[in-house]
Amino acid sequence: MVLQNNGTIALEINHLKKIYPDGNVHAVEDISFSVKEGEIFSFLGPNGAGKSTTISIASTTLKPTAGTVKVFGYDVISETNKVRKHIGICPQDLVFYNNLTVYENLIFFGKMYKRPLKELKKYADFLISHVGLDEKRNSLAKKLSGGMKRRLNLLIALVNDPDLIFLDEPTAGLDPQTRRLIWEFLLNLKKKGKTVFLTTHYMDEADYLSDRVAIIDHGKIIALDSPFDLKREYSGGDVIEFKFHEADTTVQKKFQENSQQSHFKNVSYIDEDNLFRIAIHNGLLTIPDLLKDIQEMNLHISDMNVKANSLENVFINLTGRRLRD
Ligand SMILES: Nc1ncnc2c1ncn2[C@@H]1O[C@H](COP(=O)(O)OP(=O)(O)OP(=O)(O)O)[C@@H](O)[C@H]1O
Ligand SMILES: [Mg+2]
Repeated sequence: MVLQNNGTIALEINHLKKIYPDGNVHAVEDISFSVKEGEIFSFLGPNGAGKSTTISIASTTLKPTAGTVKVFGYDVISETNKVRKHIGICPQDLVFYNNLTVYENLIFFGKMYKRPLKELKKYADFLISHVGLDEKRNSLAKKLSGGMKRRLNLLIALVNDPDLIFLDEPTAGLDPQTRRLIWEFLLNLKKKGKTVFLTTHYMDEADYLSDRVAIIDHGKIIALDSPFDLKREYSGGDVIEFKFHEADTTVQKKFQENSQQSHFKNVSYIDEDNLFRIAIHNGLLTIPDLLKDIQEMNLHISDMNVKANSLENVFINLTGRRLRD
């Protein structure tokens, strides 16, 4: 079933909280947001941020400690079966049968949703051909490469033609070309009116695919907006990263002394990498001036890197840390 985008809310999460009793881990702390039908919505955050916990609760496989989650208006706790009819889940850990072929896995999982067999067979082949698995259609799942297994895992989430698709790190470990293929496939699902909720720690993936991104860290949403607006609000433009031959404390002191100069108003120091970041608009145009000023400060550059405005800058500016791939 494909629903039309008429302002319907596909997923609504209110004051969600999850404490794992084992170790008293506060994995999710008071998260609230909603996803509109037809949107691609991403959770971007580092390891342990609470992404999988949230997605598992929203897709009915884990119970929350507090708060509510509704899928197309149905409550995940009291109306679990109704919720399950609307959703597909691609978990972070691979879930399929090793001793069935790619095609047989899809038919097996599709049958659980009671799709008419003729329709299911056609759809299974459609899915296989759209993620580049044609040649492996009749290979046992256990004989697939890691990236191919991940693609099979993804297809299983789609076999019941769900309206809302939960994808937990769908492109982890895929080669760049295959990631692109999956991205185009997901954008096609969106064109058909499907809603996608995905988690990722790839900044470029969140940027390219998402209508909106929630940046999650330590179980909390620290920013939520379209990639464009996140970059506009939190990034401050391009970033030039420097390392210097002089000691970092010497460099810090010099930047402080010159902090009134326009280029040096937004200098930050990333402790974990021992490098200095300078945020500026129009990075490439400003570089000659910037280099001249640095020379006049008697500092000697040992390494330099220009980074275009990206969600990585947003994450660093919000947390003071890098979000590593
Ligand atoms: N079953 C569990 N029991 C106890 N603690 C858990 C359990 N599952 C997850 N956690 C903890 O909850 C926190 C959030 O984990 P979660 O798996 O949701 O993070 P994530 O954002 O998906 O990370 P990753 O990018 O590594 O997949 C972590 O501190 C993790 O160790
Ligand atoms: Mg996870």
